[in-house]
Amino acid sequence: METPRLRTPSLGRSLLHVPPVCFGAYALGGGYWGPQDEQEGVRALELAIENGMHAIDTAPVYGFGLSERLVGRALKGRRERAVVMTKVGLRWDGSIVPGDPRLAGVKPQLGPDGRKLPVRRDSRPESIRQEVDASLERLGVERIELVQIHARDPHTPLVETLGALLELRRAGKIAEIGVSNFTAAEVAESIRALAPVPLASHQLHYGLLARGAERELLPQALREDVGTLVFGALEQGLLTGKVRAQRSFDEREGRARRPSFQARNRQRVNAVLDEVVAPVARAHSCSIAAVVLAWTAASPGVTSVLAGARSPEQVRENLRASSLALAEDERARIRAAFERLRLLPGPGAGLRTWLRYLLRR
Ligand SMILES: NC(=O)c1ccc[n+]([C@@H]2O[C@H](COP(=O)([O-])OP(=O)(O)OC[C@H]3O[C@@H](n4cnc5c(N)ncnc54)[C@H](OP(=O)(O)O)[C@@H]3O)[C@@H](O)[C@H]2O)c1
Repeated sequence: METPRLRTPSLGRSLLHVPPVCFGAYALGGGYWGPQDEQEGVRALELAIENGMHAIDTAPVYGFGLSERLVGRALKGRRERAVVMTKVGLRWDGSIVPGDPRLAGVKPQLGPDGRKLPVRRDSRPESIRQEVDASLERLGVERIELVQIHARDPHTPLVETLGALLELRRAGKIAEIGVSNFTAAEVAESIRALAPVPLASHQLHYGLLARGAERELLPQALREDVGTLVFGALEQGLLTGKVRAQRSFDEREGRARRPSFQARNRQRVNAVLDEVVAPVARAHSCSIAAVVLAWTAASPGVTSVLAGARSPEQVRENLRASSLALAEDERARIRAAFERLRLLPGPGAGLRTWLRYLLRR
């Protein structure tokens, strides 16, 4: 495969450079995403690293260690080319004490072996140190390029967690520090606590179906020169145009219960993809997924988009997005079509969600 010339922006003020589309390795852990063929997953990662999608985002909790182990396998013989980005702060291992306040707000997660385990937020310094050591081992590396706090642990002062990460940085175990799913105030606090070390990145939810970050988080990242890694661009595969009415998901899979995946929403989304995005994809000889990823990657404040491919074929499609420049009128047509699109709330939605849906029509 020919390596396209890629723009590799730096991640905020850090020394890391990442391509416009990075590999998101969550789905390789199976569980929520349904079973994953491990060999196929490793082949997908190898192809990505060798063709310029060399930055990989993973986390210990993805497949309860499996995603990191698969990344470690793909790094063999390619370590120097890859940027490894993992996380700390969500733990399924160790002893779980019922009633632990750190369990609050995190749903139990399905592991690759079909078992559901409780997950807790834990960003205490001793926990962070254990997690980074375990990640280094699973990944088979001596240093991790980026470690992100996966989600805020409200029971541990942020300054203590960041202090532990700074120590690990001084010890050479990690190169850069990032955060994920933070509020603007928490990002601001992190910037202050780390100075003069820069906050490399904020990982956040953003895409054509989730544009809320345009209000505060993306402008903040631009203003403060913090890199952003966004997830949700493909809406778990729905925005590839390949989740049609006939596709079924095992009822244990998370996507089986996702409101956007219910039949009427699939129909609405696919109608927009077919009418508005597919002609753009044809004009550029690429897939719908590539157009959607390119649209997201070029949005103001976005440094890079995380795309969760599970096969070499999906990597090939997603790679194309890194060298795809959409014209301003193409971007505007796609944006306007998704702004007109309304998705029905899920069956368990509360009154407020329904009111918001009805009033925005
Ligand atoms: N910080 C956080 O809290 C957080 C949360 C979520 C995700 N993330 C990160 O962001 C990454 C992306 O997550 P996401 O939620 O945005 O998931 P995603 O990338 O939208 O969805 C992954 C799914 O998309 C499908 N897919 C990917 N490329 C495709 C292609 N070219 N054609 C058809 N299907 C394709 C695959 O579906 P099939 O299974 O159908 O093959 C895969 O399972 C994750 O891997 C993780 O690194 C972070």
